[in-house]
Amino acid sequence: MSAELLAWYDVHAREMPWRVGPAARAAGVRPDPYRVWLSEVMLQQTTVAAVRDYFHRFTARWPTVQALAAAPDEAVMGEWAGLGYYARARNLLKCARVVAQDHGGTFPDTYEGLIALPGIGPYTAAAIAAIAFDRAETVLDGNVERVMARLYDIPEPLPGVKPELKARAAELTPADRPGDHAQAVMDLGATICTPKSPACGICPLRDPCLARVRGTAPDLPRKAPK
Ligand code: ADE
Repeated sequence: MSAELLAWYDVHAREMPWRVGPAARAAGVRPDPYRVWLSEVMLQQTTVAAVRDYFHRFTARWPTVQALAAAPDEAVMGEWAGLGYYARARNLLKCARVVAQDHGGTFPDTYEGLIALPGIGPYTAAAIAAIAFDRAETVLDGNVERVMARLYDIPEPLPGVKPELKARAAELTPADRPGDHAQAVMDLGATICTPKSPACGICPLRDPCLARVRGTAPDLPRKAPK
């Protein structure tokens, strides 16, 4: 199934300023871990659309983790203004300084190394390890949960069903191109396997998708009543 998904991603990946475009990707160019980290921290609780301009301003002003680490606190907090959740900005700076001072400006390239850094939790560590370093880590966000619940027609509600959804996502993660795979599932969830009126007719996973066959896709994933 991952092969269909990767073939779809090669054509339909959303352009994002921290991603490598299709031609460069085919030529083996890897994304810059600093940009991947910055984007993932900004994307915690904030949409891709809202993050774009902030990302451009940050990377124009501070093109490397060393540059960011050397920035005055007020300058970084000022550029962050409007993104919200200001603890993220303080941790961002703390993390940049740890990477610059303790790691010679090079991000650790494993989940374990990344999760030890300030402001990097399990989701963000998995996302950076997969996207920046092509580690076969499982990235589970709301989009991925929805895709898994539908692909396997899993009726149990969130949040209890999360571990099962994560296990399914892990099974699906390929040894080849796990970073592109992770982003492909996110993009599929954002553009085709949407919460309402999913576009099953053009989905690269329409054949194996159990929810499509059974007509349950729009009702999944279920959520436990609050
Ligand atoms: N949300 C968080 N990280 C993302 C990424 N790399 N691509 C798309 N959506 C995301």
